Formats: sequence, structure tokens, C-alpha cells
Amino acid sequence: MIIEVVRIGQRVVRDDRVTTHVALVSRSFGAEKIYMTEVNPEIKETLDKINKTWGGNFEIEFIEKWKSIVKKKKEENFKIVHLTMYGEKINDAQKELQNEEKLLIVVGAEKVPRDIYELADYNVGVGSQPHSEISALAVLLDRIQTGKQFEKAFPNAKRKIVPTKNGKNVEVSETRD
Ligand SMILES: C[S@@+](CC[C@H](N)C(=O)[O-])C[C@H]1O[C@@H](n2cnc3c(N)ncnc32)[C@H](O)[C@@H]1O
Repeated sequence: MIIEVVRIGQRVVRDDRVTTHVALVSRSFGAEKIYMTEVNPEIKETLDKINKTWGGNFEIEFIEKWKSIVKKKKEENFKIVHLTMYGEKINDAQKELQNEEKLLIVVGAEKVPRDIYELADYNVGVGSQPHSEISALAVLLDRIQTGKQFEKAFPNAKRKIVPTKNGKNVEVSETRD
């Protein structure tokens, strides 16, 4: 399954940390790419550094208009999943989502434009209480991939963690520049 993410907007009070975490969750929970609007370009450098150290080729693309990418992806047969507390229950949607081949997940920063509710193939609520795009995205990605995302390889890493019950075990390789 191919999974990509779009984050629409950014709060006027800068929330670079939240935006970075949306990208980090996307990367570490198995998405391949994130599209972002109105973002501090340093976020790309941060994610490039993470890729170099921890592996993989997670991509960030800055976009002008969220609607163009949603329409383009629909033409490429992606199903659009909009995360919103008003949406159908994730418990009801997850089975169908697990059977899709290509998903574009849309999260907001603040109030999202009305059109996304109509453009989406699925409007999904992770509970019907307000919380955060970071938590909603993490739960959705986990429900769709049922934990398999954590078995995914991140090739060409400089550092690779060997999971251990006690302490830290990290393999270091200097082959990647
Ligand atoms: C801080 S919230 C903004 C909530 C905003 N009041 C609204 O009307 O959507 C930012 C984003 O987090 C996600 N989100 C927050 N709570 C959610 C929930 N219970 N289920 C799914 N997504 C949620 C949505 O993508 C939302 O656009």
C-alpha cells in the first residue's frame, strides 16, 4: 500500500514543532511522502537530516494549493482520507481502508476549508472529541497497517537501533554520506 499525507495550513501563531511532528509521525509510521502548505523551509532540512541518520527516503514537498494535490491524487486513483472529529468512526472505517491500495491522508492545522469534506472519499474521526493532527494521524496509520509499519526497513541508515529490553543498543555505520 502507498500512503501519502497532506497537511493543510498552519496556525498563524507559528507551530513549527507540531508541523515537524506531523512529518516525523508520517515517516516513522510508514507514509512515503508529505505535502505541506505555508511551512518554515527548515522543516525540510530537519527531515533530510533524520533520513541521513536513521535511513529511508521520506519526502517532503511544499505546495501552494492543497486542492490541486488532492485533485491530482484522485486522478491517480488515490483514495482521500480526511481526518476530522466530525467523521465516521475509525472503528467502522478501518477494514475498508486496510483494503485500499493508495491513500492520501489529509490533516488540518486549524479550521479546514469546507470543500475537503466533499472531496474526501472518507471523512474519519479518531473519536469525536477534538485532539491533535499528530495523534489522529498516528492512530489512523496504525489502524490501517495494523502494526506492520514498524517492521518496515529504513535502508542506508547511519544509525540503526537494535531493540532491547534494557539500555540502548545502536549499530553505527558511516557508509552513508
Ligand atoms: C487542532 S485540530 C483542529 C480542529 C478544528 N476545530 C476543526 O474544526 O477541525 C487540527 C486537526 O487535527 C485533526 N483532528 C483533531 N481531532 C481529531 C479527531 N478527533 N479525529 C480525527 N482528526 C482529528 C484534524 O485533521 C484537524 O484538522
